[in-house]
Amino acid sequence: MMLSDFPLFPEAASSVAKYVDGLYLALILLTGTVSLLIWAAIFYLAIKYRRRPDNELAQEQEPPAALEMTWIVVPTIIFLAIFVAGAWVYFRIQRVPTNALEVYATGRQWMWKFQHTTGQREINTLHVPVNRPVKITMASEDVIHSLWFPAFRVKNDVLPNRYRTLWFQATKTGRFHIFCAEYCGTLHSGMIGWVEVMEPTEYQKWLAGGSEGSLATQGEQLFQKLACATCHTNDATGRGPVLAGIVGKQVPLADGHSVIADDNYLRESILNPTAKVAAGFQPIMPAFQGQVSEEDLIRLIAFVKTMQPATNVAPPQQPRNP
Ligand code: CUA
Repeated sequence: MMLSDFPLFPEAASSVAKYVDGLYLALILLTGTVSLLIWAAIFYLAIKYRRRPDNELAQEQEPPAALEMTWIVVPTIIFLAIFVAGAWVYFRIQRVPTNALEVYATGRQWMWKFQHTTGQREINTLHVPVNRPVKITMASEDVIHSLWFPAFRVKNDVLPNRYRTLWFQATKTGRFHIFCAEYCGTLHSGMIGWVEVMEPTEYQKWLAGGSEGSLATQGEQLFQKLACATCHTNDATGRGPVLAGIVGKQVPLADGHSVIADDNYLRESILNPTAKVAAGFQPIMPAFQGQVSEEDLIRLIAFVKTMQPATNVAPPQQPRNP
C-alpha cells in the first residue's frame, strides 16, 4: 500500500491494521475538512461583516429554527457514527480469538522477556507464526511498561501485580519493531526489540530448537521444588484445594464471595494466598511474594493448567469378541 512509503506511517502487518488505519484516516479527513471550513468561514465572515462607518452597529438576529436543528442533528449523527466505528474496531482488537497461540511477556527495566509454552525463552526478540492469532499475557517485574507493536497497531500497558493481555494476527512475514510505549526510566528508549513473523513451517523448525522442556514441565519441577504438592494433593485429603481442573472454574471463597480461577487469581493466590482463601480451607499457605519470579509464576500457572483430576475409576472393560 502507498502508506508504507509515507515515513509517518509504520507498515501495516496485522489483521486489525487496516481497520485502525481506516478509522484514523476517516477522523483526520473529517476533522481536517471541518477545520478548513471553520477557517474559511472565519475569514469570509470577518471581511463580509467588518465594521464600516463608526456608527454602524450589528443587529441581533435569531437564526431560523431549521438551521439550529441542522447543526444539532448533523453533528450528533456524525459523532454517533464515530462512536459506532470506534467501538467496532475496539472490540475487534479486544476480543481474543479462542484458538490463539499463547505467549508470555515479562517487562522489566529495560528489556522484554518472552516465554513460549513449549519452553523457549527469548529477550527483546519474539518469534511468531504468520496468519495465526497470538495472545500475549503480560506482567511487569517493576514499573509500568507498555508493549507496542506499531506494525500490528496494538499496544497495551504492562503492569506490576497483575496480568494483562493483547493479541494480534500477523499478516506478513518479516521483522517488525517492538517498543515500550510508557516512560519507565532512564533507558526507556532502549527498551526495544523485534518481532520475527515466520512461515508456519519455519516457526515449527524454530520451536524444535533447544528448550528446557515445556513451560508446564518447568512448572511441574518448580511445583515439586517449592513443595506445593505437600498440601495441594490430587485428592480431597490435602490441606489445600485440589488444583486439577480448577482453571476457569468458579471458586467459592471463605468470605462468601466467589471468583473465577483465571491467571490473575492463580497468580495472586501464589504470591499472597490470604487475599482470597477458598471456602473450607484455612489461611495457612505461606506467601511466595518475593520468592517466585514473574517467569516462574508463568511456569507454575502453565503447570496448573495441565493438571488432570485423579481418576480412581478403572476404565470400562472393552467387551471381547469370542
Ligand atoms: Cu519500559 Cu518504557
